[in-house]
Amino acid sequence: MTRRVISAGAAILGIILSACASTQATKHQNPQVVSVWPDRSASAVLDPTVESRIDVILSSMSLEQKIGQMTQADIRYISPDEVRQYYVGSILNGGGAWPSMRKDATVADWAELAEAYYDASMSSDAAYPVPVIWGTDAVHGHNNVAFATIFPHNIGLGAADDPDLTYRIGRATARALRATGITWDFAPTLAVAQDRRWGRYYESYSSDPTIVARNGAALVRGLQGHLDEDGDVLATAKHYLGDGGTDNGKDQGTATVSVKDLAKVHGAGYLASLDAGVATVMGSYSSWTDAITHEAHGKMHGNRELLTSVLKERLGFTGVVVSDWNAIEQLPGCARDRCPQAVNAGIDLFMVPEDWKAFIANTLDDVREGRIPESRIDDAVRRILRVKLASGLFDHPPKESQYFADASAVRAPDLAREAVRKSAVLLKNDSQLLPLPRSSRVLLVGEAADTMAMQMGGWTLTWQGDENPNSDFKTGETLRQALQAVLGTTSITYSKDGSVDDPSGYDVIVAVLGENPYAEYNGDVAFPQPLSYSASHPADATMLANLAATGLPVVTVLYSGRTLYASDLINRSQAFVAAFLPGSEAGGLADLIVAAPPGEAQSDFTGHLPFAWPATPCATSDTDREMLFRRGYGLAYAEASDIGPVTESVTPVACD
Ligand code: BGC
Ligand code: BGC
Repeated sequence: MTRRVISAGAAILGIILSACASTQATKHQNPQVVSVWPDRSASAVLDPTVESRIDVILSSMSLEQKIGQMTQADIRYISPDEVRQYYVGSILNGGGAWPSMRKDATVADWAELAEAYYDASMSSDAAYPVPVIWGTDAVHGHNNVAFATIFPHNIGLGAADDPDLTYRIGRATARALRATGITWDFAPTLAVAQDRRWGRYYESYSSDPTIVARNGAALVRGLQGHLDEDGDVLATAKHYLGDGGTDNGKDQGTATVSVKDLAKVHGAGYLASLDAGVATVMGSYSSWTDAITHEAHGKMHGNRELLTSVLKERLGFTGVVVSDWNAIEQLPGCARDRCPQAVNAGIDLFMVPEDWKAFIANTLDDVREGRIPESRIDDAVRRILRVKLASGLFDHPPKESQYFADASAVRAPDLAREAVRKSAVLLKNDSQLLPLPRSSRVLLVGEAADTMAMQMGGWTLTWQGDENPNSDFKTGETLRQALQAVLGTTSITYSKDGSVDDPSGYDVIVAVLGENPYAEYNGDVAFPQPLSYSASHPADATMLANLAATGLPVVTVLYSGRTLYASDLINRSQAFVAAFLPGSEAGGLADLIVAAPPGEAQSDFTGHLPFAWPATPCATSDTDREMLFRRGYGLAYAEASDIGPVTESVTPVACD
C-alpha cells in the first residue's frame, strides 16, 4: 500500500515535471526550428504485417526485457551469456575491440563470436526471444578487421564525388561485415565540416552539402541493399545534427548555426539518407546554439525538438535513434548510466558500452517512478523491433548469409584501388613532370612512403589508428611496395629520412609526407597552433628543402585528413598530389603517377578538392578569403598549364 502511494506520488511528480518541461519548451519554442524542414510526415508508411508482429512481441515483453532491448554494450564488457540474461538488444565493438582482444583475429574468429552472441540472445527465457544486433564502425571498409581491404576515408570519396563508386564501396563493406556476422554499420558520417581544425574533418565528404548528400545517400543504399538479403547491413546516418559545424572546429563542441543553416547545410545529408531509407540515426555529441537568437539549445542528445518533432515527426523517420558512446553523461543532470532526459527527448537505443548493467537498473527505476513514460519505452522498443525485423535478423540468423565466415568477402582490392585513383587530387604538375616514365630511377623518401598507418588514418584497427606497425596489416600495400611492383625493385631507392649521397643516380625524387593518424578530439588543432604541415612536421620541411636543392625534380604526395597550408612544400615540388587518406591500396596512386605501359591507357587524375586549400596557416574555413585553390579545383594531365610559384605566407606561426 505504502509503496503504491509512493509510486503514485512519484508518478504525479513525474507528470508535474514533464508538464514543467513542456511549458519550458513552449516558452522558448521557435516554430521555425520545425517548419524550416520539409514536411515528410506522410512518408512514415508502416507495414501492417510487421507492425502486428511487433504488437505480439511487445505485448509479451516485461519492462526488464524492453529496457534490455534499449541497451547497447561493448563486447569488451559483456559476454554472450549476459546478453541472454539481461535481454540486451545490441552490442558493438568500439574502435580497437576485437574477438578475444586479438588484433589479428581472423574472419572466422569474428564470425564465431557473432554467432555466440546471436545464439545466446535467442536462448533467453523470453516468450519471443529477440535477436541481438551487432554494430560496428566500418567507416572506410571493415576497418577493425586486420584482413580487410581499407577504402579511402570520406574526404577522399568527396574528392572523387562518384556516387556509384561510393555505392559499390557500401556493397563491399556490407559483404565484409556479413562475413564477420555483423549486420549494422555506424556509417555514413554526414557531417558537413566547416573548420579544418576539427579532428573529424576527414570523416566528412565535403564542406558542400550536395556532395555530402549524394555520397552519404549512396553509401546508405550500398550498405543496406534491400535490408534483409545476404549481403545487406543497416546503415547509420551520423551524427545528428550539426557535428560538422562546431565553433572553432572543436570536437563535441557547440555549433552556433542559424535554424536555416542547420536544416539546409547540416541537414542535407539526412534528407537524402532518409530518402534512401536509412534505418538508424546516431545522435551528435555536439550542442546547438541558434546563431540569430543566441538561444542555447544544449546537447543534441537532449534535444526533443530536433530528435522527435523534426526527425521522427516532421521527417517521418520510423527507425532507431542510437546515442553515441557515453554521450548521455554530457547532459546536465545525467550520468553515463542514467539519463531519462535523453530517453524522453527521443533516443531509442543507448550506447552505454561499459555501464550497461547500471543503465538497465536505473532506467527501470526511472520508468517505475514516472520519470519516463512507459509509452516512450514502447515506442523505442517498437522501433528497435521494427529495424530488426526489417533486416531479417529474426528469420535469418547471420550465419545463414552466404558470406558468413568467408575470408574472401572482406577483400575488395580492385575496388579500393579504383577509389584511390579517383580520390587523389593533382594540385600541381609543372613542366608535365607526371606521369613518370617507366624508365625512371626514383629516389623515394619520407616515412609515409612505407608506413601503412599513415595512409590509413584514424579508425583503422584501433580507434586512433596510430599504434599499428605494418605487420599488423594482413593485406594491402604501401606506396613503396606499389611503386616497386610497377617500376621494379631496382628502380626504387628508399630513404626514409631523405638523405642522399649522390643525386646523379636518380631522375626524380618522390617524397611522401603525411600526418600521423588521429580520431575524434585527438585530431583537433587548437589555435595558436597553425594549420601548416611544415610547422607541425619541421623535419619533413627541412628534408624537402634539401631535396629541392639537389636540382632533381620533386614529386610530393601528401597524406592528410584535412586541407592545410603547404605553399612552401608546393613551391619545392614540381608536382604535388593531395592523396588524403587512401587506405590499404596505395597501388591506385602508382597507377596515376607512373606512365602506363605501352599500349595501355593512362590513368588520369579526376579528383577535385572537396574542401578549399588554404593559402595561409591560419585560414580555417572555405569562406576565409585566403584560399590557394578553391573547392572543386583539381588538374588532369590533359590540362598542361603550369601554376608556377605560389605566394608563401611569412606570418609568424601562431594563429589567433
Ligand atoms: C563516435 C561515433 C562512433 C562511436 C562508436 C563515438 O566516439 O563519435 O562515431 O560510432 O564512438 O565507436
Ligand atoms: C572506443 C571508441 C570510442 C571512443 C569514445 C574508445 O575506447 O574504442 O570506439 O569511439 O572510446 O571515447
